[in-house]
Amino acid sequence: MKKILVARAVFPDVIDRLGRYFDVESNQADHIFTSAELGAKLADKDGAFVAGERIDASILAAAPRLRVVSNMAVGYNNFDIDAFNRAGVLGTNTPDVLNETTADMGWALMMAAARRMSESERWLRTGAWDRWAYDMLTGVDIHGSTLGVIGMGRIGQAVARRAKGFGMRVVYHNRSRVAPEIERELNAEYLDKTALLKTADHIVLVLPYTAQSHHTIGAAELALMKPTATLTNIARGGIIDDAALVVALRERRIAAAGLDVFEGEPKLNPGFLELPSVVLTPHIGSATEGTRRAMANLAADNLIAALGEGPQAGQPPSPINPDVMARWVSA
Ligand code: DGY
Repeated sequence: MKKILVARAVFPDVIDRLGRYFDVESNQADHIFTSAELGAKLADKDGAFVAGERIDASILAAAPRLRVVSNMAVGYNNFDIDAFNRAGVLGTNTPDVLNETTADMGWALMMAAARRMSESERWLRTGAWDRWAYDMLTGVDIHGSTLGVIGMGRIGQAVARRAKGFGMRVVYHNRSRVAPEIERELNAEYLDKTALLKTADHIVLVLPYTAQSHHTIGAAELALMKPTATLTNIARGGIIDDAALVVALRERRIAAAGLDVFEGEPKLNPGFLELPSVVLTPHIGSATEGTRRAMANLAADNLIAALGEGPQAGQPPSPINPDVMARWVSA
């Protein structure tokens, strides 16, 4: 029987399902393994189920039997895919099943930032509310404004689609323009990054984290935004230069921000904690019971199929670097 590691705690029924096919070492205590511990755990494993753990050349070198690492996440910036290719290891991820849930979260953060929801609630809980006032906690409108989406993949499109009900103009920036029929369906207009930053009232970041997208938003970009604009990040830490954003918010160069992801998370820039104009959540973009179950099951499907078991044997549903599989067959 092939051996696998489930590196993080996950739904018990998913562990049971994996146990029908494999000898499973699980981690339901949810110990966070160091890189060296993970390498040692993987030394005799054929497959691994991870949820954002960094898998790089040194870990792969410690795991000579390893064939597949299944990420319970759509983003896979935790994988060194070049190292996977060199080692002949397949990486898989969980696209699509979280699109709508994550888009909902983008809207929740954008609206909470624009309408000062967290700040209002914190203040109300102090007991200081004693009257209505014409200028109390006024924010900025969502309806009728311009939504700017940076990163028009499947989640970006789901964010943009929701703008229709709010009568918004939609502008977007992406590495390449999306198909004309998608632009038409979303009523979305392509702009270069500078034009988008100057035009949009509410910017939502939905792009993958790569060396190229590192600090897509820094001091220069924040300086181009409207002073009334909001910025929401549901993608990855590192896409925003968090130190620059703290300064921009402190100096009120933009109105507000909604952040679900941070540079160096789970730590975050302490400057954010002092700022009333930022809504902060702990990387919960995909966190509904149904969506997390769908992600866990898709990650399990990938692992089972990639290791040649189950109804989709040999055909994992969402491989990242499928070319390596041909090398297994010919090996
Ligand atoms: C993803 O799927 O990439 C999410 O950020 C993990 O929850």
